[in-house]
Amino acid sequence: MTLVVAPGRVNIIGDHTDYVGGLAMPCAIDLAVTASFDRAPDIHLTSDATAEPAVLTLPPSPVVDDATTWTRLVHAVAKLLPAAKGAHGRLTTTLPIGAGLSSSAACTIALALTLGFEGEPRELVLLAQQAEQDATGVPCGALDQLAIVFGQAGHVSVVDASAVSATPIPFPDGARLVVVPSGHHRALSETPYAERRREAERAMAEVGGIEQATVTDALSVPEPVLRRRARHVITENARVKECAKAFAANDLKTAGRLMLESHTSLQKDAEVSTKDLNQLVDALSSRKGVYGARLTGAGFGGSVIALVDEQSAGSVAEVFAGRVVVPSAGAHVKD
Ligand code: GLA
Repeated sequence: MTLVVAPGRVNIIGDHTDYVGGLAMPCAIDLAVTASFDRAPDIHLTSDATAEPAVLTLPPSPVVDDATTWTRLVHAVAKLLPAAKGAHGRLTTTLPIGAGLSSSAACTIALALTLGFEGEPRELVLLAQQAEQDATGVPCGALDQLAIVFGQAGHVSVVDASAVSATPIPFPDGARLVVVPSGHHRALSETPYAERRREAERAMAEVGGIEQATVTDALSVPEPVLRRRARHVITENARVKECAKAFAANDLKTAGRLMLESHTSLQKDAEVSTKDLNQLVDALSSRKGVYGARLTGAGFGGSVIALVDEQSAGSVAEVFAGRVVVPSAGAHVKD
């Protein structure tokens, strides 16, 4: 029996930037999808998140129209692997599904390793991103996969979606991350995520590349929606760089302020927040020991992430029915 572990992620800053080639600063966390399997000539995989097993021959024949998302995901991964290997086994998860902690990216990466992926980490990132897009129809960026593949215990990663690369930074001393679920679970396919991506792409085409464009360029975009989207992308990308510096300097106050500014931009310019997420961010940020808070991931529900001093983290998690999450190692096969 072989074990594969693929963690979820929280994103500390840098949302709705990856699909236009921007930066983000996530970390893998101590909640994960675990696959346990034996090699076999074909595929028979069950999951504790879905009732029906995914049963496929190799090489995989096309999926039937009414196939479940689970079967589509297994099929998409098997099809993209140059030489998929068969496996009989089960995936179990401690990650809540649809809570903004990248359960689907973790599941896809666990599947790729289960079905015999061999290659460079960046190839795994791109394969998993493509498989998720093929199986769900959601044009997701590479943030989640970068966070999950390149995670290192005790570190966050500054991920660059255009270079498909990640740079580790030690998690600051004296701080903890607290995740608070909004209680609104959703699949990204049910949200305006794809529309936001199209708008951001059009907006960035008007202002030039993400690295050159300035806020002044964003403000010159005539169409108001695209103007806001451009301003979000440009300011958020700059905040990731500043926040990475603040983390490296153990400057938690600055990091927290940047997280709050990021939330306001996600709310007002990217327009991906909800009333519940805004209320949680307000309530968390007015609490003693909380440096900053923001929605994490795509928004439209999901969770809020807070940066909290280590003495207060336990009580903040308790009061808000959240949990302290620990920056953890990335996806791996367990010997
Ligand atoms: C989801 C997507 C990512 C990214 C975030 C928003 O998690 O899967 O690619 O776009 O939303 O930053």
